[in-house]
Amino acid sequence: MTEQKATNITWHQSSLNKPDREKLLNQKGVVIWFTGLPSSGKSTLAHAVEEELYKRGHLSYVLDGDNVRHGLNKNLGFSPEDREENIRRIGEVAKLFAHSGAITMTAFISPYRKDRDKARELLEDREFIEVFVKVSLEEAEQRDPKGLYKKARAGEIKEFTGISAPYEEPMNPELVIDTNELDVDKSKDVVIRYLEEKKIINA
Ligand code: ADX
Repeated sequence: MTEQKATNITWHQSSLNKPDREKLLNQKGVVIWFTGLPSSGKSTLAHAVEEELYKRGHLSYVLDGDNVRHGLNKNLGFSPEDREENIRRIGEVAKLFAHSGAITMTAFISPYRKDRDKARELLEDREFIEVFVKVSLEEAEQRDPKGLYKKARAGEIKEFTGISAPYEEPMNPELVIDTNELDVDKSKDVVIRYLEEKKIINA
């Protein structure tokens, strides 16, 4: 548990709430939590979904690992403790975004099951959609667009997920998307169909 340091603070209740904003936007505010190995395709897929949603007139936003680590989480590295704090903050931010009514997507490795589960617990059951972006290590390593697997193999990056740090696969994700099998377009369709089925957006 993260310590509550501040005292003398009170929660301010707004007169407008999540359903009001959802009505305005004609969608449900949710978190789509993409998780998977480096180079599994999390960001690519999230941005493809974002584009499709935009075309359909929906507001969404992608919180992206590398970007968030340039700002909000610039003081965090890749130790298990720092990754835990990274995911804790993202979980809280994603919750705020979802409460704004946005279809919020997070694209972080988020390698630890317990950290992802904590993020899930911040939201209602139907508001958290865990998407396991599945890829074989061989395929991810072959893609390696940033050349990081190569560096990790050469010992130039310590604690690299998949090579020298663990990745714990989700047990019960809402969706599994195998990017060895599906291209970006087909993967995007799976996510969009799920959103339609669950009435997060209209078909
Ligand atoms: S997480 O494990 O805390 O969820 P996050 O998704 O924020 O990771 O950041 C992963 C990105 O940081 C990767 O896409 C990669 O570009 C970069 N990176 C740098 N060092 C590492 C490392 N040791 N392990 C994994 N990713 C790393």
